[in-house]
Amino acid sequence: MKKITVAVIGGGNRAQTYTGIMRKIPEQYQVVAVAEPVYNKREFIQRKHKIPDEMCFETWEDLLAQGKIADLCMITTMDRLRLGPAMKAIELGYHLMLEKPIASTLEECKMITEAAEKKGVKVILCTVLRYTGLFKKVKDLIDDGLIGDVMSINHEEGVGDVHQTHSYVRGNWGNVKKSADMLVQKSCHDIDIIQWLIDKKCKSVQSYGALTYFTKKNAPEGSPYRCIEGTCPIGDTCPYNAVNLYMPDNSYWMRSTASGVFECEDEHVEKALRETQYGVCVFKCDNDVVDHQTVNMLFEDDITVTFTMNAFNKGGRHMHIMGTKGELRFATEGDTIINHYDFITKKDYVIEYNAKGGITGAHGGGDDGIVQAIYEELNGCYEGKSIPTIRESYYNHVITFAIEDARKNGTVIDFEKYYDEVENK
Ligand SMILES: NC(=O)c1ccc[n+]([C@@H]2O[C@H](COP(=O)([O-])OP(=O)(O)OC[C@H]3O[C@@H](n4cnc5c(N)ncnc54)[C@H](O)[C@@H]3O)[C@@H](O)[C@H]2O)c1
Repeated sequence: MKKITVAVIGGGNRAQTYTGIMRKIPEQYQVVAVAEPVYNKREFIQRKHKIPDEMCFETWEDLLAQGKIADLCMITTMDRLRLGPAMKAIELGYHLMLEKPIASTLEECKMITEAAEKKGVKVILCTVLRYTGLFKKVKDLIDDGLIGDVMSINHEEGVGDVHQTHSYVRGNWGNVKKSADMLVQKSCHDIDIIQWLIDKKCKSVQSYGALTYFTKKNAPEGSPYRCIEGTCPIGDTCPYNAVNLYMPDNSYWMRSTASGVFECEDEHVEKALRETQYGVCVFKCDNDVVDHQTVNMLFEDDITVTFTMNAFNKGGRHMHIMGTKGELRFATEGDTIINHYDFITKKDYVIEYNAKGGITGAHGGGDDGIVQAIYEELNGCYEGKSIPTIRESYYNHVITFAIEDARKNGTVIDFEKYYDEVENK
């Protein structure tokens, strides 16, 4: 099989993860170019992959001005910086490994989808849950008829209180104008996985949700703007005291994101706590995305779905799938089993699955899984079910945008009508 050459646009956290996986399989991948404005991030990828200076660029424009210099263009810029690089890379004939969401507005998602279809290139979205051992197994169990016809799914995405404050209060995804609505940027994974498992058209959606807790009205009286000022009356007991969360060397991901430095030291982290929003009281940030949201969905054949995204938990996903012959229950954190109850035998069964990459790390194996799947796909020998067409990814994004419209307008949305209207715009 052919080795896949890769040009990276946006050398941040996600790029670091994916290129780190590619580095371990040099017979399959070679990273040949990088565009990243921040020197230490660009230099990190350059050094690790021995990329010559002339293949390292500060911006996506500079990299793509070289024409098509690799088989695959990995676009891992932030949500609001998708359209430009994606459209240009498609025009040049690149296949794309595109981070989710496709883009932060529906119009931009549509433009990328249509351009890719017209050009005939593959745009593989990094909805990595599809590539985990867990969800691949669940998909097979459903397709094999183990629980009969799916009637209902109850799915919960526990974002986790610390993750919520890190990414969706203090961090890059807290503000809609910087990123997108919470379900679009975060839970597009979940809506995608639900539709993929059901494999039917969506008929109708409805949603409630709000930002209620991480707001200025809940700031403790007398609390300083920055936790590091050390004068907060609840500083010792606050679970979100930035000094306690970031200064101990517990989470490389949180510390490197906050400092913006790969291989960061304490001094970089402390600087971030003094100068960036990562050091600001969680009740005084510029966040406006919801901290809890529920969704009701109706699919073809009267299949009903409830989905909840919520900040107020330790974190992890839980799913309960109910069919005409049995039910499946599982969690994405901790367990490595799927619980099955069968209506005919009236017995409980435990189904094990391949949790390669660990159940909690690297998105439950999904990050490794997508890298492997793309290698096979671009070599024409992929036999799995996980890779969607860009049209499928787009369809599930349109559902997500409809959910957000339903929440904001307090309406129930006829999804077939909504999709037709978007298509005919
Ligand atoms: N699939 C998943 O499970 C998953 C998980 C986390 C994040 N994401 C998504 O991945 C994307 C990237 O997230 P991240 O955490 O890596 O963010 P990041 O900020 O670490 O990385 C983005 C990088 O883009 C760079 N950049 C900015 N302007 C640029 C330009 N003009 N040209 C080239 N590069 C430029 C930034 O300097 C930054 O290093 C986001 O859209 C996020 O929503 C997906």
